[in-house]
Amino acid sequence: MKLLTGFLLVTSLFCSCSAPVQQKGDEKMDAFISGLMKKMTVEEKIGQLNLPGAGDVVTGQAANSDIAKKIEKGQVGGLLNLKSVAKIREIQQLAVEKSRLHIPLLFGLDVIHGYETIFPIPLGLSCTWDLKAIERSARIAATEASADGICWTFSPMVDIARDPRWGRIAETSGEDAFLGSAIAKAMIRGYQGDFSKNSNIMACVKHYALYGAAEAGRDYNTVDMSKVRMYNDYLPPYHAGVEAGAGSFMASFNEVDGIPATGNKWLMTDVLRNQWGFKGFVVTDYTGINEMIAHGMGDLQTVSALALHAGIDMDMVGEGFLLTLKKSLDEGKVTIAQIDNACRLILEAKYKLGLFENPYKYCDEKRAATEIFTASNRSEARAIAAQSFVLLKNEGNILPLKKSGTIALIGPLADNKENMPGTWSVAADFSKATSVLAGLKELVGDKVNILYAKGSNLDADPAFEARAGMFGKSLGRDNRPAADIIREALQVASKADVIVAAVGESAEMSGESSSRTNISIPQVQKDLIRALLKTGKPVVMLLFTGRPLAIPEENDQVPAILNVWFGGSEAGYAITDVLFGDVNPSGKLSTTWPQNVGQVPLFYNHKNTGRPLGEGKWFEKFRSDYLDVSNDPVYPFGYGLSYSDFHYSDIRLSDTVLKGNQVLTASVTVKNNSKYDGAEVVQLYIHDLVGSITRPVKELKGFQKIFIKAGELKEVSFEIKPEELKFYNASLQYDWEPGQFEIMIGGNSRDLKKGLINWMK
Ligand code: BGC
Repeated sequence: MKLLTGFLLVTSLFCSCSAPVQQKGDEKMDAFISGLMKKMTVEEKIGQLNLPGAGDVVTGQAANSDIAKKIEKGQVGGLLNLKSVAKIREIQQLAVEKSRLHIPLLFGLDVIHGYETIFPIPLGLSCTWDLKAIERSARIAATEASADGICWTFSPMVDIARDPRWGRIAETSGEDAFLGSAIAKAMIRGYQGDFSKNSNIMACVKHYALYGAAEAGRDYNTVDMSKVRMYNDYLPPYHAGVEAGAGSFMASFNEVDGIPATGNKWLMTDVLRNQWGFKGFVVTDYTGINEMIAHGMGDLQTVSALALHAGIDMDMVGEGFLLTLKKSLDEGKVTIAQIDNACRLILEAKYKLGLFENPYKYCDEKRAATEIFTASNRSEARAIAAQSFVLLKNEGNILPLKKSGTIALIGPLADNKENMPGTWSVAADFSKATSVLAGLKELVGDKVNILYAKGSNLDADPAFEARAGMFGKSLGRDNRPAADIIREALQVASKADVIVAAVGESAEMSGESSSRTNISIPQVQKDLIRALLKTGKPVVMLLFTGRPLAIPEENDQVPAILNVWFGGSEAGYAITDVLFGDVNPSGKLSTTWPQNVGQVPLFYNHKNTGRPLGEGKWFEKFRSDYLDVSNDPVYPFGYGLSYSDFHYSDIRLSDTVLKGNQVLTASVTVKNNSKYDGAEVVQLYIHDLVGSITRPVKELKGFQKIFIKAGELKEVSFEIKPEELKFYNASLQYDWEPGQFEIMIGGNSRDLKKGLINWMK
């Protein structure tokens, strides 16, 4: 009844300002918004630019809150961090019934890698290299979020990250612009669709720009880089977001070329709007405007005006716009045209989402019960999680395990469900996640004898462990001396045929404000692994992490390593699927894994330098290298093993001399030399040998994830056009230069079959 009354009332209210029922198209939208804006006061226009946090809004009491008063006064354009149809309907009702012009609100949330059904953290998701699966994960996230009242997600995060010290590398798609751009587009397709359904939500490309290049990997830190690097290596995924039609962008916290992104007109207007043609609106990150005071850009009024001048449309949480823009207008420091422009873009977003037609489009009380955390969503999450795992080592084919005998499952992450979803899973119900122990018991417990011991705490230092167990992600500290905890584990291990060690990071050791200078497995867990290895039993290391870790010792000593990131709510099942071979691992790394933190940043598409180290060499005096370690990573970009054994033929090129717009076909035959059916990510790289600016030693230009049955072979072909040879030159023009190109194909960025071509203009 409440629903009906609210809806009827809103419909009639909107009839008075000619609601565009069932009418789409830019002209209709423009006319509708112009008509509405004519009725708006300056204060109401500024109100649309305000995005406060929902704070303590509680159902049934919303009307008494501070937020409610602001909403009624038309001082709010949207809210973040509110979930559930009941709460959102109640607040929306305030906006459409109590505010003078009845303008509906946007409701935004960080729906990052799933809503309640949680998929792997984005870094893991990117290791699937499966764009369709990634799109489906975003579609499911959008369906669940929208069934809970949300119409706007602060995702995808498309920042390129080459520094594993930075905790937010967990939220990225890794180090490569080509892969990152493809994933950005897939995510946006999945979230937004065409906005026609109430399961389509608006995406927000973040954090624009270069947030992942924070100096020393310290979160929020300064970024300084050349434009050539920006354009070639860091900006493409944001640009891809515009091409995919993302409805909104979020400014990053860091500075770009000396000016904080939030106040950077070159970034927000010249590049985003004028060069790329972005038509949506730009929101700040959380208190991004206010933080420009600490950046040293002036007082609140000054920095708020700076943000508006730059091209920021919406102010997240800080209320700098709300508190100062009218004053700045009166003093001639901003113009009404600037305020109008920002207001129009936000109203357009609401229009495109269909909120003027039906402010309760996302408030269907019935949907949540049947569309959230459903069996089919969970089974999709389980399958995708299994695809995201990367088999780093499998000496003597220890894996897959046999479904018989006794397994000792040991480690601080073995019997822990809270950490499985990973960082940024704000809508997850941790009690519904599946731990490794629970997954094993449920799926193979009838055939395999499963023993368990904790083995060690996550970290020896309780204070560190408290920081690593934030947001309710319990780590269940064991207060006995470390030696006693290990001794108990060794007793358990002595009864087993094989040891599975669930070790690594906790969920909150990566993510926002979780940078580390030591990117190894915590010492107390390293000690546990050493002790387990000494038993002489086969050890499989199940590695949990939100970043590339430095694990040269473990790579040396432990026979099998399966990196499982944080696989989401179904991680425990997915891990069991892969451990026992019901799913053959196919994940490939989207970041390089260094030997130690001193090599950072280490990435595959680096430059050659004038003094490159000779191939296969460790150290040569007066070459670009180190005295103490080789230049090599432990695992290169694109790397990941399978239970299958894939063999690549030599590369076949359709031509070796090409001209102008001709198309080159490069092919290989891949044979599955094993008894396991499996999927392989075949990767194409090029190397532009001579350029007007220095060119990377290799660049990813294509990939195909193919399935090959045991013993069979498949031909894989890539078409390469001049478009793929283009790069931004010193004048930032995007073009290609004739000359020689190496064409490389393989299963990772290191082990490649090569051919050489000459491409003339
Ligand atoms: C993060 C954003 C996030 C926002 C809203 C900020 O701290 O940097 O990624 O979308 O909070 O929760």
